[in-house]
Amino acid sequence: MGQDAFMEPFSSTFCDLQCNIYFLLLGICSALRLTVPSHTIHGIEGQPLHLTVDYNFNTTASEIQIIWLFEKPQSIPKYLLGSVNQSVVPDLEYKHKFTLIPPNASLMINPLHVTDEGNYIVKVNVHGNGTISANQKIQVTVDVPVTKPVVQIEPSSGVVEYVGNMTLTCTVRKGTRVGYQWMKNGKPMHASSSYTFSSNHDTLLIVPVMKEDIGNYSCLATNPVSTMESEIIAPTIFYGPYGLTVNSDKGLKVGEVFTVDIGEAILFDCSADSNPPNTYSWIRRADNTTDVIKYGPHLEVVSEKVAQTTVDYMCCAYNNVTGKRDETHFTVIITSVVLQRKLQSRPGADYRKAQTFSGHENAMDDFGIYEFIAFPDPTGVPTVPSPSVSGSGFVQGQDLHSTVYEIIQHIPEQQQEDHQEGT
Ligand SMILES: *[C@@H]1O[C@H](CO)[C@@H](O)[C@H](O)[C@H]1NC(C)=O
Ligand SMILES: *[C@@H]1O[C@H](CO)[C@@H](O)[C@H](O)[C@H]1NC(C)=O
Ligand SMILES: *[C@@H]1O[C@H](CO)[C@@H](O)[C@H](O)[C@H]1NC(C)=O
Ligand SMILES: *[C@@H]1O[C@H](CO)[C@@H](O)[C@H](O)[C@H]1NC(C)=O
Ligand SMILES: *[C@@H]1O[C@H](CO)[C@@H](O)[C@H](O)[C@H]1NC(C)=O
Ligand SMILES: *[C@@H]1O[C@H](CO)[C@@H](O)[C@H](O)[C@H]1NC(C)=O
Ligand SMILES: *[C@@H]1O[C@H](CO)[C@@H](O)[C@H](O)[C@H]1NC(C)=O
Ligand SMILES: *[C@@H]1O[C@H](CO)[C@@H](O)[C@H](O)[C@H]1NC(C)=O
Repeated sequence: MGQDAFMEPFSSTFCDLQCNIYFLLLGICSALRLTVPSHTIHGIEGQPLHLTVDYNFNTTASEIQIIWLFEKPQSIPKYLLGSVNQSVVPDLEYKHKFTLIPPNASLMINPLHVTDEGNYIVKVNVHGNGTISANQKIQVTVDVPVTKPVVQIEPSSGVVEYVGNMTLTCTVRKGTRVGYQWMKNGKPMHASSSYTFSSNHDTLLIVPVMKEDIGNYSCLATNPVSTMESEIIAPTIFYGPYGLTVNSDKGLKVGEVFTVDIGEAILFDCSADSNPPNTYSWIRRADNTTDVIKYGPHLEVVSEKVAQTTVDYMCCAYNNVTGKRDETHFTVIITSVVLQRKLQSRPGADYRKAQTFSGHENAMDDFGIYEFIAFPDPTGVPTVPSPSVSGSGFVQGQDLHSTVYEIIQHIPEQQQEDHQEGT
């Protein structure tokens, strides 16, 4: 029959494209349409699978025949079952596994196993005024769903920035044909100069490890029938200290110089970014000696106790895991209220001018030359009680109306005694 001759060599997929052409040319294209929702179906191991097939025809039919075949690559197709009208003839070997309820041509496979993976071919013959037929091929894959993946980081104890390497491994207990995708802070990760993936992407190697690698990592395990994401894991990365700064609760800060009112207590705060937290130490620098005066992030300087008007300090931050340290120098200048006001009100241009004249780059040097040239030997100014503390009208009066030089000159022995009583 002409209809058979044209139909047989072409699958219905072909027909969809070419049928119209033949139909137009010959007017005898198949009146039988056999369709499948998808030519590839991903089945789950152990579960039933329906291979849904639909067909329709518009000729009178005396017999409808449905045949299912199974073929694995590089092997000849196997007969599974067939039907004519309502009667089904199964291959007895597979009788309990495959079900066909004609005239519905859909095949049910229950249960589906990995060995059932392959191509399923359905052929429908409609016999009436001649025989028309159509066939379809469906590729079936069978997979075991993935279980929730687990991420492990090596070394689990943490990595020192730029020193160690970090390996993240994603594992699933079950699952076939698993593909892995790494996520950092919810975004997919791609290979880069510091990220290397194993061939199936289940392992991520980070070399070198940097502070920027801190984040929330997770692994996505996917196969054709399932997707699971791991819990988020955040690696421990040791870094720093970075960005060491010293700040004070009061006092005027210009560059690295803090100008403090005489008698005032000033609290300094040293901070730097690091993991684990830094250990801080405060060092006071005298002529040729350096003394560690305190440990910890805070230092209180009571100007009364400072034996000089200009004192150099240093804050050291040390990360005991990275073994790195940083230090910053700063100078505290103890001055009177009057002088401090003068400093605050001084236009920036004057200050810059002074800087230019002095030829120094360090603001501290400029201060000394410009403002304190008239200061006598600083060791001669051991302590000056704060007006509020001493309550002495004499000191207050001097403070307001005299020059700094005069205050320094007028410090009596008695003041020291006052201070000692106060402490
Ligand atoms: C049968 O269907 C085909 C297309 O599906 C159409 O071209 C043809 O005319 C139909 N024949 C009859 C007798 O209805
Ligand atoms: C199939 O069914 C048709 C119509 O229902 C009938 O004419 C025909 O004889 C049946 N064929 C067989 C083999 O049972
Ligand atoms: C054929 O059977 C399948 C599965 O049992 C069902 O989904 C489908 O709707 C049926 N088709 C028809 C035309 O009844
Ligand atoms: C059978 O086919 C022939 C030629 O193709 C046509 O003349 C005839 O009308 C058809 N009969 C039926 C019942 O469809
Ligand atoms: C880190 O990886 C680099 C390059 O693969 C290697 O040379 C180095 O020895 C590794 N370092 C550690 C601590 O494993
Ligand atoms: C990582 O997760 C924690 C808690 O879920 C969250 O507080 C933090 O902001 C996250 N970090 C980033 C970089 O998204
Ligand atoms: C400081 O050290 C220098 C040289 O190292 C020395 O000449 C000077 O006398 C020292 N000063 C004091 C106060 O110890
Ligand atoms: C390192 O520093 C941290 C934080 O200051 C501290 O808790 C830890 O005891 C220190 N470890 C050692 C070995 O000194």
